[in-house]
Amino acid sequence: VSRRYRLAVLIEDADRARVWLEALRRAVPDWQVDDGRRVAAADQVDFVVLWGRAEGLSRFTHLRAILSLGAGVDHVLRDPDLPREVPLIRMVDPGLACGMVEYVSCHVLRHHLGAPSLERSQREQRWTTVTPQLAHERTVGIMGLGAMGSACATRLTQFGFQVVGWSRTRKSLAGVTVHAGRHELPAFLARSEILVCLLPLTEDTRDILDAGLCARLPRGAAIINAARGEHLVEDDLLAALDAGQISGATLDVFRVEPLPQGHPFWQHPCISVTPHVASLTRPGSGAQSIVRSISSLLAGESPPGLVNQEAGY
Ligand code: NAP
Ligand code: GLV
Repeated sequence: VSRRYRLAVLIEDADRARVWLEALRRAVPDWQVDDGRRVAAADQVDFVVLWGRAEGLSRFTHLRAILSLGAGVDHVLRDPDLPREVPLIRMVDPGLACGMVEYVSCHVLRHHLGAPSLERSQREQRWTTVTPQLAHERTVGIMGLGAMGSACATRLTQFGFQVVGWSRTRKSLAGVTVHAGRHELPAFLARSEILVCLLPLTEDTRDILDAGLCARLPRGAAIINAARGEHLVEDDLLAALDAGQISGATLDVFRVEPLPQGHPFWQHPCISVTPHVASLTRPGSGAQSIVRSISSLLAGESPPGLVNQEAGY
């Protein structure tokens, strides 16, 4: 990459903006990297790096690309100021996938080993012994076999789990039974004793974790949602938990974030809440990923995270 390109970081949170400015200046010391909230001559900026919906995007009139610090770009695509003709690139970063693999492995193992119910027994000073199933006797279903889902599916096979996966187009993944498309969703769900949602939020996937889906899972299944809050119909989950159809849920993402005070999920005995921390883009590796994406775009190639705006992810 030869020319002195101009890059602007457009992040509302000042602390977060500072961290990314520093990381990107370190990654491309020859470029001009500015804070997009107060940049002069915005029309001369080549690339905007943003997190979520960013105020003031319309000032950048000559962009070569917009790069999202998040893997999910649903909130970016909802921005009325988003110039549709400019390539949008979402974050694909080994650090992000690694964090998700650790989060999903932890919470799959927690449900697999019955940790939530053991913890309830401890609080009640009850000595209840149950022999947990072994991993090879348990099937985990992964919804979405992209950067996150495929890495998680592969790691779960290494624990010995039977792993089934579901995506829009058919994937091929060693050791994973794959399903594709809506018509194969029921067969996938019927096997998923622990269901992990790692789908992007699109018109096709909004509200997908609903009563109908819960009813198709094996009785007593657990659900882990680390994708987006709008995938889950909250009241349907509460009803399925009440009915015993679902035994527990781990939720990292919510329709309203932060999860409001007094929301029933906070105190529910069968729900674990984490505050949208399943995986965060690390500035070190994330800045390198941004530079790689830009370099590949400038070389006329299609970078790995190029968003298909039609499909919505
Ligand atoms: P990705 O690489 O784009 O993968 C998306 C996967 O979902 C693909 O396998 C895709 O199918 C599948 N898919 C999309 N629409 C579908 C549909 N209608 N039916 C069935 N499958 C469908 O995305 P990613 O990087 O893995 O990230 C996935 C999501 O995780 C993000 O969008 C974000 O919401 C969430 N996320 C959350 C956190 C967190 O901290 N909680 C962190 C990172 C990411 P194809 O393979 O056929 O295209
Ligand atoms: C986090 O939620 C992301 O989409 O990267």
